[in-house]
Amino acid sequence: MPVVALIGAQWGDEGKGGLVDLLASRARLVIRYGGGNNAGHTVVNPLGSFKLHLVPSGIFDPNTVNVIGPGVVIDPEALLNELRDLQARGISTERLFISERAHVIMPYHVQLDQLQEESRGAGKIGTTGRGIGPAYADKMSRTGIRMADLLHEETLLNRLRTVLEEKNRLLTRLYNTKPLSLHDTYLRYLDLGHQLAEHITDVHPIIYRAIEKDLPVLLEGAQGGLLDIDHGTYPYVTSSPPGAAGACQGAGIGPTRIHSVLGVLKAYSTRVGEGPFPTELEGPEADVLRQIGMPWAEVGTTTGRMRRVGWFDAVMARYVVQVNGIDTVAITKLDVLDTLPTIKICVGYRMVETVLEYPPATTALLSAVEPVYEELPGWQTPTSGMRQFYDLPNEAQAYVARICHLVGARLGIISVGPEREQTIEVAEIF
Ligand code: GDP
Ligand code: IMO
Ligand code: MG
Repeated sequence: MPVVALIGAQWGDEGKGGLVDLLASRARLVIRYGGGNNAGHTVVNPLGSFKLHLVPSGIFDPNTVNVIGPGVVIDPEALLNELRDLQARGISTERLFISERAHVIMPYHVQLDQLQEESRGAGKIGTTGRGIGPAYADKMSRTGIRMADLLHEETLLNRLRTVLEEKNRLLTRLYNTKPLSLHDTYLRYLDLGHQLAEHITDVHPIIYRAIEKDLPVLLEGAQGGLLDIDHGTYPYVTSSPPGAAGACQGAGIGPTRIHSVLGVLKAYSTRVGEGPFPTELEGPEADVLRQIGMPWAEVGTTTGRMRRVGWFDAVMARYVVQVNGIDTVAITKLDVLDTLPTIKICVGYRMVETVLEYPPATTALLSAVEPVYEELPGWQTPTSGMRQFYDLPNEAQAYVARICHLVGARLGIISVGPEREQTIEVAEIF
């Protein structure tokens, strides 16, 4: 049985949560492998409408085991709130296991994320302000605190004593804010650790046994390939590798064990936060894509910010497909394009006298490229009730086929609405 990595293939918010919810009933194990509560995954299923930030979207299936892997950064308070909300709505959270190796987002990470953003002024990244960048920076600097540390009084106190000294110097001398109390922080995080203790464990045996027994495993990506720390639109990226390599590293699964990489692509483009966006639109066409007033409007799930919108960018998507070895794509939100008379796809970037096939590395060049568009006829027919590929209007079939051809991957799933059953499965994933 396969191990499938489901990854965002644009700037996040491609509809990953909904697809994991659909596929979870066929998987035995769902693993969130990276990012933190910067993610916002929407799930609409017969149990209701949910917004998940840290809990894997497989939590709604009673037979699926859910793991938060070592590559995730965890704000324990945010996770506890999420678990309480789910429990209050009758969802069992018993089958959730949290890696003891995952790093903790501490209060100084959140503070520093926000203070650094303020100090960047016009050059701000537009982070979610959840402490993600500073937490990953400390992990790499080997000054991080891990979930296991919250369960050991002495380790936590010793780690905190060293780390807080440095953080408090930063907070007071560089940013002129108040220092954090060692005593209060220690007691608070010890308590948070206790509250999560029943879930914190070594997740490796759970993952390895599932793979050994050939059970279907789904790796749930957060963010998207264009927010990747190495391959994204740096510096306007997140601080982790959200792609296929990040899935291996963040879950602890070797690349030889991954059978398929399913890339999720929205039928158009969106981006929340700052940074270059070659196919960005303004005006009435943007309004159609934003779908303001609808439950699936392009408004950030985590921060409530309005998402920037634009045409599908095949130059960016092809690059993400190639660097992540995406073999199959899911195309979501096709229904959003239902009313448009014509639809554009960016097939190249004009740069002076040449047309680039791949995105240039720098913000300056990416902001200067002029998208080369191909224009396809729209279908002007509602698709949200359709369940078979051949029920779709010819123009919609052609649009989807063109995207697959341009990015170089086979079609797996089309989604035509936010609900679980509003999907057209073209190829078998599990
Ligand atoms: P994620 O971060 O990739 O899980 O995506 P988000 O949940 O942040 O954003 C996707 C939004 O689109 C949510 O409001 C979903 O309910 C909605 N959505 C997902 N797929 C579809 C679809 O095919 N059609 C429509 N209209 N909405 C969708
Ligand atoms: P999901 O999983 C969309 C963006 C932020 C910002 C940049 C850096 O829902 O697809 P960070 O807080 O990570 O340091 O912010 O990355 N970003 C996302 N955008 N969807 C997400 O997650 C995102 N996670 C981070 O808006 O531009
Ligand atoms: Mg999201």
